[in-house]
Amino acid sequence: MEKRFILFILLSGFVIACDQDISPEITPTFIELDVPEYMGKTVPFPERNPFSKEGIELGRMLFYDPILSSNNQISCATCHKQELAFSDGVALSTLGVSGNTLQRHAPAIINLAWNDGLFWDGGAKDLESLTFAPLAHPDEMNQDITELVEELKQIPDYRERFKKVFGKDTIQSALIVRALAQFQRSLISHNSKYDKYLRNEEGGTLNSLELKGMELVGKKCSNCHSGEFFTDFSYHNNGLDAVFPAEPEHVGKGRNRVTLNPEELGAFKTPTLRNIMLTAPYMHDGRFKSIEEVLDHYAQNMVNSPTLDTTFILQNENFGVPLSEEEKEAIVAFFQTLTDFTFINNQAHSNPFLIRKE
Ligand code: HEC
Ligand code: HEC
Repeated sequence: MEKRFILFILLSGFVIACDQDISPEITPTFIELDVPEYMGKTVPFPERNPFSKEGIELGRMLFYDPILSSNNQISCATCHKQELAFSDGVALSTLGVSGNTLQRHAPAIINLAWNDGLFWDGGAKDLESLTFAPLAHPDEMNQDITELVEELKQIPDYRERFKKVFGKDTIQSALIVRALAQFQRSLISHNSKYDKYLRNEEGGTLNSLELKGMELVGKKCSNCHSGEFFTDFSYHNNGLDAVFPAEPEHVGKGRNRVTLNPEELGAFKTPTLRNIMLTAPYMHDGRFKSIEEVLDHYAQNMVNSPTLDTTFILQNENFGVPLSEEEKEAIVAFFQTLTDFTFINNQAHSNPFLIRKE
């Protein structure tokens, strides 16, 4: 009688464990990612997708795995390369599955955990939902998500990893994008020479030209490239074009495509300036090959339009950001201090298959 009772307790315990789907021995190692005070001390994350060691690692594998594309040849890293701060070095990529030219330039993936709008026009609100877009886009990875789930289920290593991270004995599309989002949120850059300067650390002495450049950026650019992320996370028209496409849904409309607000026609997300010397070409369509071209744009090549940001409107119907040649040189010198070699060499962000392959 007593034995049976114990067996009953054991069995019901088992049922409860199954019910909750998570048994104690497969709980992942939840972690906080630390960043300097001036970035808010820890990296933010949505409640439904907390960081774990195993989750970031799984996301890293998926990021570098071409199995994510329909022809099993294109990974996220095809267009987001670590050595270029996760940008791709070309204006408009043709490396997606279809070989068609993409409509926009691939931006760097840096410190995106703090962004509440993603893509050049803020068309995605978080990294989880964003990640479905490149997976499904016919000119990027062209992947049927249901098929991808089945493919991943065939791989015992992935099955085990998903179970460990999410406590469920299954793989689902929502879990694939959660793991990828954890990895992308872990791509934090805070170890440039400029960061060492902010923290008063060794190697953080800026020379007078770099200091002058820092001051100039603070004075002339920080309306938009503001704070220690060098972005206001908002959308502006910085005078690239005089007219904008009329077709609805056209990506050239910028933020207006999403909000339909006429004042946001031609407004794009302010990109960070961190690692800017690594992420040429520049702007949403990669039209400028070098920083010098960007500075010439602000100083003398800007064009007017009804939605041009008022920051650029000067007296006497002039517009732009006046910059002398010396000032341009100082800004470039400051930009060099924003390159984070620790970030682009961090093994935790690199291709896991290169190291692990026996
Ligand atoms: C064929 C090239 C290509 C591939 C493959 C690709 N991307 Fe991108 N990515 C782009 C382009 C182009 C954009 C800009 C799109 C836009 O803003 O309209 C972009 C934008 C992004 C952004 C937005 C960044 C920001 O600042 O708002 C993120 C995040 C991103 N991609 C992650 C991924 C992930 C994760 C994968 C793999 C699942 C991936 N990408 C695969 C080309 C690519
Ligand atoms: C009114 C807001 C605003 C001001 C002021 C401003 N920018 Fe920008 N900047 C933007 C926006 C928005 C973009 C992206 C535009 C696009 O791609 O269509 C951008 C893009 C850039 C880029 C290219 C980034 C990339 O990854 O492609 C650089 C570099 C840059 N700005 C530097 C500067 C400098 C230097 C100054 C000061 C002289 C400055 N900006 C002033 C809003 C601004």
